[in-house]
Amino acid sequence: MRYFGSKVSTIETLCDLVSQRVSSGSFCDPFGGIGSVGSYFKSKGYSVWSGDILNFAHFFQIARLKFSRPLSFRRVIDKLGLESRNDLIDLLNAITPKKGWFLKEYSDKRSFFTGRNARKIQACRRKIITWGQEGWLNHDEHAVLLASLINSMDKVANTAGTYYAFLKKWHRKALNDFRFELILPVSSKSKGYCFHEPANTLVKRQHFDILYLDPPYNQRSYAHYYHLPETIALEKTPKVHGMSGIPRDISGESRFNRPREAKHALVDLLNSASFNFVVFHYADNGIITPREVRDILSSYGEIEDFLVDSKGYTTTEKPRKVKHHLYLVQNA
Ligand SMILES: C[S@@+](CC[C@H](N)C(=O)[O-])C[C@H]1O[C@@H](n2cnc3c(N)ncnc32)[C@H](O)[C@@H]1O
Repeated sequence: MRYFGSKVSTIETLCDLVSQRVSSGSFCDPFGGIGSVGSYFKSKGYSVWSGDILNFAHFFQIARLKFSRPLSFRRVIDKLGLESRNDLIDLLNAITPKKGWFLKEYSDKRSFFTGRNARKIQACRRKIITWGQEGWLNHDEHAVLLASLINSMDKVANTAGTYYAFLKKWHRKALNDFRFELILPVSSKSKGYCFHEPANTLVKRQHFDILYLDPPYNQRSYAHYYHLPETIALEKTPKVHGMSGIPRDISGESRFNRPREAKHALVDLLNSASFNFVVFHYADNGIITPREVRDILSSYGEIEDFLVDSKGYTTTEKPRKVKHHLYLVQNA
């Protein structure tokens, strides 16, 4: 899934820099998003503690890095008289399309999906909700199916990357047929732990060898930009409004999005964490200025900093280059 602020394009640089300094141990990624960095470090042998305040992001983390093998889905497979996980996926892909809230709000009223795809997504969503209500899915299986639905849906979404707006003309990919695909976990012998909680709570859980901090760097709230994935993860059908179809009541605001609070939020987080090594990943034009970042981090030890180019999303279709810095500090 495309994710605003994703570090996929810089992940190898990040991992090289970190592994040259700390070659193994525990890696905490409390602003984990959809688990791209966490699953990569897990594949490189680190044990990963990952978190996020959004439910759907947490479900992606469960799908990608909590386990080392795909889950069995044994109960639902038995209850439906199927033989394998592939049968379950085939069942979701052969499902009879359905009308309903999703079709009305995100296809009829707002062109986020073609009618044909919206009906299929609606039907898959309904099935997963029903299986959950029947008690045929455990918590993790439920999370993996919902993350997989959101990931599959995103591939045919008529957007430029976030759900803040749909495109005026149908994007080529939005005209493809929706297909349900299961997210498979990264294969690794290391452990992965996932938490749906604020970063400043997760960092208190234990001492970490590496603390990787990649907070939001501007006022764009992820809860707003990814309202639809979040609604699907919550299995709700809220009253929505405006061109984005955003729910009237929305939570998931972060101190890191607020100009007056972001700096204090970072200081509070670092003060409550116990770590050997910290990596702070931040945009040069972020709310906290490079100078403030240096001031804050310098109290932990000598700072090494590296300029990395990240492809960021704009709300237009053109990717834009945003300059990011990686600040590395060995806690003295
Ligand atoms: C820049 S993104 C992380 C991107 C991720 N590293 C990647 O490569 O995909 C920041 C993430 O922090 C989450 N977030 C914002 N405030 C938070 C908080 N106080 N605690 C935990 N997560 C938070 C957002 O929901 C978002 O997923």
